[in-house]
Amino acid sequence: MHAVVLIGSPRKGGNTDCLADAFLEGVAAEGGTGEKVYLDDLRIRPIGEVGDTYAERVDVRGDDDYLVTLKQALAADILVFASPVYWQGVSAQMKAFVDRWSAYYVQPFLTEGMRGKVFAALVPHGAPDLDHARWVTEPVKVWASHFHAVYAGEVSCVAGAKGAVCDQPHVLDQARELGRRCVELAAG
Ligand SMILES: Cc1cc2nc3c(=O)[nH]c(=O)nc-3n(C[C@H](O)[C@H](O)[C@H](O)COP(=O)(O)O)c2cc1C
Repeated sequence: MHAVVLIGSPRKGGNTDCLADAFLEGVAAEGGTGEKVYLDDLRIRPIGEVGDTYAERVDVRGDDDYLVTLKQALAADILVFASPVYWQGVSAQMKAFVDRWSAYYVQPFLTEGMRGKVFAALVPHGAPDLDHARWVTEPVKVWASHFHAVYAGEVSCVAGAKGAVCDQPHVLDQARELGRRCVELAAG
C-alpha cells in the first residue's frame, strides 16, 4: 500500500511536516510505502475559467505542474491532506491543488481514480481551541464523500511555533497510529 502525503505548508520542518513524517513511520511499520509532496515547491496555479458543461471542460492552465502531481496522487492507495489551518481553511497551496479537480470534474481518470481510496488529514493550528481543526477536516470529509473515498480520520494539534508538535510525543504517536490504520483500511 502506498501513501502520498500532500503537504500544504510552506514551512519545511514545521508542524505539518513533522506530522507527515510520523504518519509515514506508521505506514512503514505496517509494511506500506509513502512519500511527501511539498505543494509549495511546485508550480500549481489557481484554477482558471472553466466551462459550464462538465464534459467539455479544459484545464486552461494545464501546462504547469498540476497534472503530473494529480497523477502522482491518483497512483496512491492512501491520500493524506496535510495542511495547517490558515484563516479558517486549508492553505492556499492546498486549495489551489483541490480546486483544479474541477477542470477534470467528470473525467474517469479522476473520478474512478479516487474511488475507494483512503483519505486522511493532518492538521496543526495555532488557536488553543481543540475544535479548530474542523476548518480543514470538514472539507476533507466532504471531498472523500464526493469521490466515494474512505475517510480514515485525522490527527490535529495545537502548535503555533515551528516544530512545536515535536514536544507533543502523544500527537506524533497518534499520527503513527493513523498511518498504520490507513494501511490496514487500504488493504481491506
Ligand atoms: C497565513 C497563516 C494563517 C494562519 N491562520 C490560522 C488560523 O486561522 N487559525 C489557527 O489556529 N492558526 C492559524 N495559523 C497558525 C498555523 O496554523 C500554525 O502555526 C501551524 O502550526 C503552521 O503549520 P506549519 O508549522 O506546518 O507551517 C496561521 C498561520 C499562518 C502563517
